[in-house]
Amino acid sequence: MTPVLEENVSQRAHHYQSYCKCDKDFRAHFDPFSLLFKEPQQPRARSGHWRLAFFLLFAQLETLNAGRCVTSTIIPIINVMLAQRVFIFERDNLMQKVKSMATFRDEYDHVFSLLQQHHKWFQESIPLIASENVPSPAVREAIVTDFGNRYAEGWPGERVYAGCRFIDQVEFKCIELMKRLFNAEFVDVRPISGVVANLAVYTAFAEPGDTLLALSIPSGGHITSGKKELGGTAGAVKGLNVEYLPLDYKELNIDVDKAKSKIQELAAKGKPPKFVMFGASVFPFPHPVKELAEAVHSVNATIGYDAAHVAGLIAGGQFQDPLREGADVVSLSTHKTFFGPQHGGILSWEKYAEKIKKATFPGMVSNHHLHAVAGLTIACAEMLEFGKEYAGQIVKNAKALAQALHERGLNVLAEHKGFTQSHVILIDITKHGDGGTIEETLEKANVIINRNLLPWDIKVGRHFMHPGGIRMGVSEVTRLGMKPPEMAEIAEFVKRVIIDKEPVEKVKTDVTEFRRDYQKVHYCFENATEAYKYIKIR
Ligand SMILES: Cc1ncc(COP(=O)(O)O)c(C=O)c1O
Repeated sequence: MTPVLEENVSQRAHHYQSYCKCDKDFRAHFDPFSLLFKEPQQPRARSGHWRLAFFLLFAQLETLNAGRCVTSTIIPIINVMLAQRVFIFERDNLMQKVKSMATFRDEYDHVFSLLQQHHKWFQESIPLIASENVPSPAVREAIVTDFGNRYAEGWPGERVYAGCRFIDQVEFKCIELMKRLFNAEFVDVRPISGVVANLAVYTAFAEPGDTLLALSIPSGGHITSGKKELGGTAGAVKGLNVEYLPLDYKELNIDVDKAKSKIQELAAKGKPPKFVMFGASVFPFPHPVKELAEAVHSVNATIGYDAAHVAGLIAGGQFQDPLREGADVVSLSTHKTFFGPQHGGILSWEKYAEKIKKATFPGMVSNHHLHAVAGLTIACAEMLEFGKEYAGQIVKNAKALAQALHERGLNVLAEHKGFTQSHVILIDITKHGDGGTIEETLEKANVIINRNLLPWDIKVGRHFMHPGGIRMGVSEVTRLGMKPPEMAEIAEFVKRVIIDKEPVEKVKTDVTEFRRDYQKVHYCFENATEAYKYIKIR
């Protein structure tokens, strides 16, 4: 039986049970004498019942009072009318009850149906969102354990909660494995996301009013290093004064000379940067950390590196090594190129350990989602075993996808540099429409990508909802076992939608067929369960 059929049968069975129960309740309620003794559920109904019931009783007594012939004719009529009103009142009340009982169960079932539909859709789609990935069945198993119901505030071994015997062992193991993966002296795995990791890092190394230097959003930067006017975390939450690192549009990278000048200019104005954040959401090439480290440290600023996107590539030894290149602190997400559960982390040097620990707890988190720490620990073991091969394949796939799209007439940026050295590619789509519309059209063909601002979009008046670009990442398709020949097939689907304007339904059918062979997670120890299999444990 398909999940949808199963769902319909169980829904119908449940409605029948609800109906029978309500029918029984209705019969019990309808006995007028029970009105005097039962405990109605709503206060309004209770006062109504009592008033009507007493009226009926008095009326009955009155009719028994012989000799008053007018009363004895009128009272039975009133009696019948009242009985009718009680009936209507009770019926409405019960119908309301039937309706609300059915609605809650309906809603409950409806949510599960949506979840199942989502799983089915992803089984049939090509997931190319650069910030996403799919965890192994082992990670999925870890994140549904009881760890997710527990509290463990503080550092492992020094908790302010009992019951952490095994939780502490897992968290220590997580820290140990992360240290090995990133060759870091200090690791904090308590930030519950990349955003929280960045906020903890700002808290540890800067004060409100200090200057932060980072990439702007059109240049690929993330909203966590955004200005206050944009509601960015650095500006609006931490109160930092945000200045932008200059981007070389052609190279899709930070312009080293202009960045040095900017640091000097800010210092001359008496507002030297206190924190310089490298890293981005569109991050095709390693940032010039080494090249700028001296200039940043010369004004006593801290070098931060946001590895949210590229953590898996760094762990697999396929990107730059920010800690060796001069970074003081690295923040990350654990679920983009790193294939763990959704969570965050911070890497640094022992000399900064205490201030980072304090910024994370009690600064940013109380409990830190222990099931995610368990899942992350499993993902770390997988990354240590398979990371090099996995990350290497990602870079090969990203280059292959870019090349295949380029050959089919799409304007993939940075061709002169081989398009990318990471998991992500950026495409100027303006010849074919705007990023928002292209995103929607591809989604109808089951190709999931996202719209993206090009570095110059705001200057030329484009809106972020309809930008000139789209972004594609290959981490998830790589995890599903795809290689360069499959990248060429994906490029062909994209071309059929964007350039050939084939009907999306037709492309969708072919995408679904193509996806049948890629249902297992690779680069993990065990993969008995398919990547998007819906797991029912109710
Ligand atoms: C560069 C960068 N930093 C931080 C984040 C936030 O990470 P999270 O979604 O884990 O909070 C993102 C999210 O995509 C990102 O691209």
